[in-house]
Amino acid sequence: MKFFVDTAEIADIKELADTGLLDGVTTNPSLIAKSGRDFMEVTREICGIVDGPVSAEVVALDHAGMMREAEILRKIADNVCIKVPLTIDGLKTCKALTGEGTMVNVTLCFSANQALLAAKAGATFISPFVGRHDDNGFDGLDLIRDIRLIYDNYAYETQILAASIRHGVHVLECARIGADVMTAPPAVIKGLFKHVLTDKGIEGFMADWAKTGQTI
Ligand code: E4P
Repeated sequence: MKFFVDTAEIADIKELADTGLLDGVTTNPSLIAKSGRDFMEVTREICGIVDGPVSAEVVALDHAGMMREAEILRKIADNVCIKVPLTIDGLKTCKALTGEGTMVNVTLCFSANQALLAAKAGATFISPFVGRHDDNGFDGLDLIRDIRLIYDNYAYETQILAASIRHGVHVLECARIGADVMTAPPAVIKGLFKHVLTDKGIEGFMADWAKTGQTI
């Protein structure tokens, strides 16, 4: 499973990229606002840190406006992936852009039928929001399961990018189901490295090693 980080914070992106385990980055207008950075400038900087896809979201709601914004955003770098909302205009834009060889991430997906439409529109990635689905009394992981089943039924190449990931259990279950990618905040990804028994084990080994008086 590919790991994308869901942030526009450069320090976090650099730290995770340094592990060699980061496959891409997703941003959205809220994350850009939170960063306090200029959209174009921060997107350019992120694209220079990671080789993989960097999602940059359009803010126009009509097809012509989305195409105009996508034209500007895709010039930033070769690894820019245009993010469009799951609306009729968004999917029209998706079809047009992927037809021209531009990567597209269709975002704000909350039903398997929406995901089916995105695949038919040739989306590179579909982003079902697991956590926000859970927040509203649905099972976000069931959504990932349904999309996996449907995409496999028809051998759609659209990659399932599990988004709105809130904790390690979401990551684990998405991997079990076979999501192609998951995007999570930096803290969730950093949390995956941790286990209390790993820390305890290191502590014990270090204490015993010190007793030997040896060095390597
Ligand atoms: C996906 O690309 C979105 O940016 C993101 O995962 C939304 O997550 P949230 O529900 O935590 O805001």
